[in-house]
Amino acid sequence: MSQALQAVRGMNDILPDEAAFWELFEETVRDWLKGYGYRPIRMPVVEPTPLFKRAIGEVTDIVEKEMYSFVDGLNGEALTLRPEGTAGCVRAVIEHSLAARQTQRLYYFGPMFRHERPQKGRYRQFHQVGVEAFGFAGPDIDAELILMGARLWADLGLDGIELQLNSLGQPDERAQHRAALIDYFLAHADQLDEDAKRRLHTNPLRILDSKNPALQELCGKAPKLIDYLGAESLAHFEGVQRVLRDAGLPFTINPRLVRGLDYYNLTVFEWVTDKLGAQGTVCAGGRYDGLVEQLGGKPTPACGFAMGIERLIALIKESGGEPAAPAPDVYLVHQGEAASRLAFRVAEGLRDQGLDVLLHCGGGSFKSQMKKADGSGAAFAVIIGDDEAATGEAQLKNLRQDGIAQRKLKVDELAEAIIGYLIDSDEEE
Ligand code: HAM
Repeated sequence: MSQALQAVRGMNDILPDEAAFWELFEETVRDWLKGYGYRPIRMPVVEPTPLFKRAIGEVTDIVEKEMYSFVDGLNGEALTLRPEGTAGCVRAVIEHSLAARQTQRLYYFGPMFRHERPQKGRYRQFHQVGVEAFGFAGPDIDAELILMGARLWADLGLDGIELQLNSLGQPDERAQHRAALIDYFLAHADQLDEDAKRRLHTNPLRILDSKNPALQELCGKAPKLIDYLGAESLAHFEGVQRVLRDAGLPFTINPRLVRGLDYYNLTVFEWVTDKLGAQGTVCAGGRYDGLVEQLGGKPTPACGFAMGIERLIALIKESGGEPAAPAPDVYLVHQGEAASRLAFRVAEGLRDQGLDVLLHCGGGSFKSQMKKADGSGAAFAVIIGDDEAATGEAQLKNLRQDGIAQRKLKVDELAEAIIGYLIDSDEEE
């Protein structure tokens, strides 16, 4: 026997029991997005590599070391499996002039790829729901996007997800802060680790994000960006906070929240739980007013976020959420050639009436088929033998209620009898 192949490390199969959670999650999310007027967009999984370099930034972990990039062997094009969805969404918005004379509220679902060290909650293929709003300059959309998150956690029955908020100001304000930060870290160069030294002149803001305990005190005393924000940036930040306070949504301002992608300005936020261990950020985003223009479009303010589906599903399970076990309405048992031919017709006829039907396939005795019918969770077994087939009839057996006798019905009467019973039992519940 040849050796069985395995999935790529960090890329997971989602098996049927697990997928039931995903479907329930996706249903809830689609309903929620509709409630806020967001419309779906679907972008390719592969994009030109320069798109991500320009959007996310050359000196970021994602671009420096996490992208699955390759050269298309047929035409030499540099391509990358998307590590996130915002860049591709902006590319599509520009390419199809979606935000030229109108605002757009868009969302996407799908796999993203980052070559990270796999661990609980961190995968190399993971899935995001991304939500992006184009053409809105004021703080109201930032606040609405944040409030949306709070509603989704409630819709999913999740609690304990906390909101962290910061403002990254505008590029010129960040430049002043950056210069002050470099001066500060240079004055304490002896305390920096290798990673921090490397970042000092390329991306000093990321040093503040360091997980190294030895750097925490130094980072805590570093110049704060908020002290470099001008009146307009402060007013925008205050505008967001005012709506959140009015809505009664608690938040923490975290001056060290800098995000790992370079396109942000003004508002940035993360939703974090302590129930998932080290990978506790379930949703993150912010404003990226410069990105559309930077990628060749007309200047268009924009704001959005993405959530990690694996992490949210883990949290739903943690909180005891369960999708209802799927069960067909009918399991169709049949034996004999004439019976099998009739069974196909009956199954399709019942489906025409909106019933879910599992048609037994693979033969076997009535007894073994009835066992399977029971195990399927179906409400009814419809049983057809050659005797029944000869008269165009079938036996209807209620599998979920004792004491109801099996009945012989014309096959045309089955749907009505089953639907009548299902309606009655729904009303009783
Ligand atoms: P991000 O913070 O890189 O932002 O990712 C958003 C979320 O995706 C994270 O908070 C996390 O839940 C999930 N995630 C990220 N990497 C992994 C991984 N390796 N394994 C599992 N889950 C992961 C963005 O991607 C931005 N595009 C968000 C955005 C949209 N900003 C504006 N619009």
